[in-house]
Amino acid sequence: MKKNAIIVAFEGIDGCGKSTQAKKFYKYLKAQGFDALFFKEPGTTELGKKLRRILLSKKDDKISPLSELFLYLAARNELVNQFIIPAVKEKKIIVLDRFIDSTLAYQGYGRGISLDLIEIAHRIILKGLKPDITFLIDASPITLRKVVNKNPDRLEKSIKFQKKVRKGYIAIARKEPERVKIIRRKSKEKTFASIKKCWQKFLYEHRTNSGIFSKGSF
Ligand code: TMP
Repeated sequence: MKKNAIIVAFEGIDGCGKSTQAKKFYKYLKAQGFDALFFKEPGTTELGKKLRRILLSKKDDKISPLSELFLYLAARNELVNQFIIPAVKEKKIIVLDRFIDSTLAYQGYGRGISLDLIEIAHRIILKGLKPDITFLIDASPITLRKVVNKNPDRLEKSIKFQKKVRKGYIAIARKEPERVKIIRRKSKEKTFASIKKCWQKFLYEHRTNSGIFSKGSF
């Protein structure tokens, strides 16, 4: 039976809890016996770590939206070449804490940069790769204000901006409902239960194409 890699991305506005859910999901996959890898973006590669420090610096507010876009894309290009392509070749399940939809939502819908430009750049960087399933943890920026205020950085400053980003994410999900699953943020456990349910349905629907299921159970 043919065995394929699976790319699973976690997305959402600042403070929505997507990193917690992504890590929990990765641990769940490992516990199920799946051959899974976890990558955070930006911040996995050496360049990504350096760019993360610049991009999330509390002091530097002078980066223009276009420069910001190119820095995120540079981090993505390194991640794809150094980690994602090799993992795809090894047919792993790749769990990503943020990926292409972050750029579309933050730099595209949030900062107003052309979505076409971002799509073209992604086409070049991704070389045909795309997440198979994306969990969008959706919450109102108002309810997340307290979480975000504990650790404000350059992008987290404005509720107005986060609202735009949220709208962007919803627009992406409406355009690609097969891939992007909206998960309403509830308690940690309830949110994870919704993710698990969605994942099990995804696996069920895709199991005929993939031998990856022989390792795990669901
Ligand atoms: P995180 O720790 O939640 O991943 O924070 C990363 C920040 O970077 C978050 O505010 C979203 C932002 N970001 C973008 O604006 N564009 C991108 O392409 C990515 C990956 C992140």
